[in-house]
Amino acid sequence: MEVISGKEMAAALKQQLAADVVGYAEKYGRKPNLVVILVGDDPGSVSYVTGKAKAADEVGIDNSTIRLSEQTTEEELLDLVRALNVDTSVDGILVQLPLPNGINEEKVIETIAKEKDVDGFHPMNVAALWQKRPCVLPCTPKGIIRLMKNMGIEMAGKRAVVIGRSNIVGLPVTKLLMDENATVTVCHSRTKDIAKICSEADILVPALGRPKFVKAEMVKEGAVVIDVGVNRDPETGKLCGDVDFDDVATKASYITKVPGGVGPMTIACLMENTVECYLHNMKAQGK
Ligand code: GUN
Repeated sequence: MEVISGKEMAAALKQQLAADVVGYAEKYGRKPNLVVILVGDDPGSVSYVTGKAKAADEVGIDNSTIRLSEQTTEEELLDLVRALNVDTSVDGILVQLPLPNGINEEKVIETIAKEKDVDGFHPMNVAALWQKRPCVLPCTPKGIIRLMKNMGIEMAGKRAVVIGRSNIVGLPVTKLLMDENATVTVCHSRTKDIAKICSEADILVPALGRPKFVKAEMVKEGAVVIDVGVNRDPETGKLCGDVDFDDVATKASYITKVPGGVGPMTIACLMENTVECYLHNMKAQGK
């Protein structure tokens, strides 16, 4: 069994990006610029946003976090997004989700200029992904595929099982696994006999948000297990994944940990997306 260190891989990716950014800044006269918007003060979201800002600093991406109160109206948020859309010094816009009740997330996402949508959540980017057209790839699914590629894990012809069907992870990682020629099954809250289906997976990607849901008996001997969950262990209060790591590690060939697995790669891929949007923006400006 080998633990895939997302943390180390993310560090290497950020280092490469930092070197690239130095060159680009010389060529284009400025660094990439990412704006993160956080509405309210949900502790989980605050911690994610802090992590994103820190990574941007490491890579040499200019960044700012705009914090708005929980009472912000949808129209105020949309006005801010529209202003950032037309600001040529801004390359990437990220609105941290979830948004407070009363703000329509879909409306906010579709208002972000698709060229600045570093999350890859805009419907045009989603459509482009499903049609294999050039697009911004969502960060977590991109990070998951990168983790496996970097480990030399063959996906073609393998049986992959994704648990969860969210827009952020389940659906896009399903498509990216198909693009790698895996045969993908998607399980969800209404799936019957989920343990049996999981136990047939060569590659198992739990993204359901239930602490330690995946146990050894649900995992095939030698399977690759990529844990996307970020939960609080109800017993210890510590961060934990959707996989009962100590139990499942006895069966898996490769496994990721929480924290230190998918999370850091998600953030590194966000930095990569920001650089991609910046390069696109520079080209569009004829630079
Ligand atoms: N909330 C949880 N994951 C994400 C993400 O990848 N992007 C944004 N914007 N919000 C999130």
